[in-house]
Amino acid sequence: MTVGRFPLTRLRRNRQDRFTRRLVAENSLSIDDLIWPIFVMEGSNSVTDVASMPGVQRVTLDRLAAHVETAARLDIPALALFPITPSEVRDEAGTEALNPDNLMCRAARLLKKEFPDMGLIGDVALDPYTNHGHDGIIENGYVVNDKSVDILKVQATNQAAAGIDIIAPSDMMDGRIEAIRRDLDENGLINTRIMSYAAKYASAFYGPFRDALGSGGLLKGDKKTYQMDPANSDEALREVETDLLEGADMVMVKPGMPYLDIIRRVRDSFSVPTFAYQVSGEYAMLMAAIQNGWLDHERAVMESLLAFKRAGANGILTYFAIEAAQRIKAQ
Ligand code: PBG
Repeated sequence: MTVGRFPLTRLRRNRQDRFTRRLVAENSLSIDDLIWPIFVMEGSNSVTDVASMPGVQRVTLDRLAAHVETAARLDIPALALFPITPSEVRDEAGTEALNPDNLMCRAARLLKKEFPDMGLIGDVALDPYTNHGHDGIIENGYVVNDKSVDILKVQATNQAAAGIDIIAPSDMMDGRIEAIRRDLDENGLINTRIMSYAAKYASAFYGPFRDALGSGGLLKGDKKTYQMDPANSDEALREVETDLLEGADMVMVKPGMPYLDIIRRVRDSFSVPTFAYQVSGEYAMLMAAIQNGWLDHERAVMESLLAFKRAGANGILTYFAIEAAQRIKAQ
């Protein structure tokens, strides 16, 4: 640490003009850091707004290429896909997750064909497909671990076979990374990457996402028996270590802004590619204040994203990806 003493040392000198501020900046946000989560739905020729996420839309597959074109033109490296499953297709066991022709797999095939260079990230968990909104299957009121993992690994392999480049298990079952890795490898998919939602908390900030998916109203109880307790931080390091030993290529911390301390600890402890998910509730919170004129749109959004870089994230999943990329490009 460099020490200095006033008046010889004046820290404001390096802040006095833009060129110096640019030279001494320790962190920066680039388009390379952005991952755009998108919602796809069944039907045709339709785009609908997510009420609790102003500016975020769900699109049908025939509109998907046009939707993604903007991201491709901005050279955003990757998309995270989330399917909306109609309630009549959902069941107790999330059977539709195993359909190799489900919405997620169809979207992946379409996007790989239209945008071969765009990275595709597939969420692996049963909540889009279950009629109870949980990420695994339930026995006697409890989300059972090992039987859920047996389903999740097939879901993952189906997605990879359909063109998903990065499998992102968000279910928080124990042992799922190893089971998925082995299943992918046995099916010859040795280069499919795994971005583990390693430290995923049982958070209040997923509310608007569940609205977007239509799983909010369905969810019985909460996810506290599998997602992490917001009180814990050492446990996040155990989760990350376990997932790395099981074969994860990259890890994620989720939510983002309330968990910047976790990102920093993970990065310092493991020095592995670490991602942050600025989740739906964080987006909703910022947009609500922006729409009320209480926060400056550009400054609030860009500051929130830069904070992830400062905390040590290599990349950020954010619903602001498109506008952030546009602003970076315009600089
Ligand atoms: C599902 C999943 C969730 C999110 C991503 N994958 C919701 C949940 O765990 O209930 C949340 C994303 C967001 O809030 O933006 N397993």
